[in-house]
Amino acid sequence: MTRFIALQARENATGEFEQALVERDIDELPAGELLIRVRYSSLNYKDALSASGNRGVTKHFPHTPGIDAAGVVEASSVAEFSVGDEVIVTGYDLGMNTAGGFAQYIRIPASWALKRPQGLSLREAMVLGTAGLTAALCVDKLEQAGVTPDAGPILVTGATGGVGSIAVALLAKLGYRVAASTGKAQQGEFLKSLGAQQIVLRSELLEGSERPLLKEQWAGAVDTVGGDILFNVVKSLRYGGSAACCGLTAGVAFKGSVLPFILRGVNLLGVDSVELPLVVKASMWDKLSLQWKLDGLDKLVSEVGLVQLPEAIAQILAGRLVGRVLVRVD
Ligand SMILES: NC(=O)c1ccc[n+]([C@@H]2O[C@H](COP(=O)([O-])OP(=O)(O)OC[C@H]3O[C@@H](n4cnc5c(N)ncnc54)[C@H](OP(=O)(O)O)[C@@H]3O)[C@@H](O)[C@H]2O)c1
Repeated sequence: MTRFIALQARENATGEFEQALVERDIDELPAGELLIRVRYSSLNYKDALSASGNRGVTKHFPHTPGIDAAGVVEASSVAEFSVGDEVIVTGYDLGMNTAGGFAQYIRIPASWALKRPQGLSLREAMVLGTAGLTAALCVDKLEQAGVTPDAGPILVTGATGGVGSIAVALLAKLGYRVAASTGKAQQGEFLKSLGAQQIVLRSELLEGSERPLLKEQWAGAVDTVGGDILFNVVKSLRYGGSAACCGLTAGVAFKGSVLPFILRGVNLLGVDSVELPLVVKASMWDKLSLQWKLDGLDKLVSEVGLVQLPEAIAQILAGRLVGRVLVRVD
């Protein structure tokens, strides 16, 4: 029997959710072809929803969240992976209803795992994590829709968040003029250090919500917040522009009209990083490890151990986090 440490979310006697470190046995993990010793995980908004009892993310508690994990294969029952392989796992059911990466071990189907691309260390992969993969998918979708650096500025909403901050850095690296929208007025210098050329306050993006169309401003947008902000973003796309929609921190409702679509020919592009075929995830990780490799990510990452995770979870739920939280599991 091998014992290991995991962060567990559970409901207390008064019906509130709390997180605590527990000792578990490997035999308690679900069945799966790969047993992985986790070295790093990362904190995403969805992890915080799971850790705080959101049944839309996780149905049964106690539960170990963590939709991201990077580590080393300790046991494999498939030919594609050998003991000692370094792997990355993001999404699918990891951390949702399958015990996740906020633990020293996970056991998963082999079809969820990717071998670490040569150009990224396990640590670098988890600095990016699902947030980085999602940012890359958003940029890829915009480019597939014909957005180019010379088409005009690209707006990133929720810019100080995990997906947002990496999207700002990636777009800037690729030569786009980036306008970063944030609710944190004091983080303008941070966003500029990532490559943003213009800072737009979140409150400005809510102006004119009663109007059917707004001034054409953005050639493209990466929207990580949804709700009324997303609709105003769509209304301010330039003719033929595109917005990649991936998040819901401002709300899930999308109230709008067809006018931006039928008068300006704009595109709203859905982005999912969870159930995406593994081969597409692999192609994004390859890009992130080669031509899209981001230097200087240290300025957007803070590193915590499992012990400090509950505090970081509270911060992300309150919308107070800036950048990415890397979880050092060992
Ligand atoms: N589709 C997918 O596959 C996928 C993958 C990853 C994440 N997501 C979603 O994308 C979103 C961002 O994820 P994340 O991990 O980057 O989260 P995060 O680090 O918490 O970033 C979210 C950012 O949104 C802004 N924000 C917070 N509360 C807001 C509010 N009430 N109204 C407007 N903006 C608000 C904040 O940025 P500012 O203060 O700078 O405005 C915050 O930093 C989440 O909804 C997450 O579930 C989706």
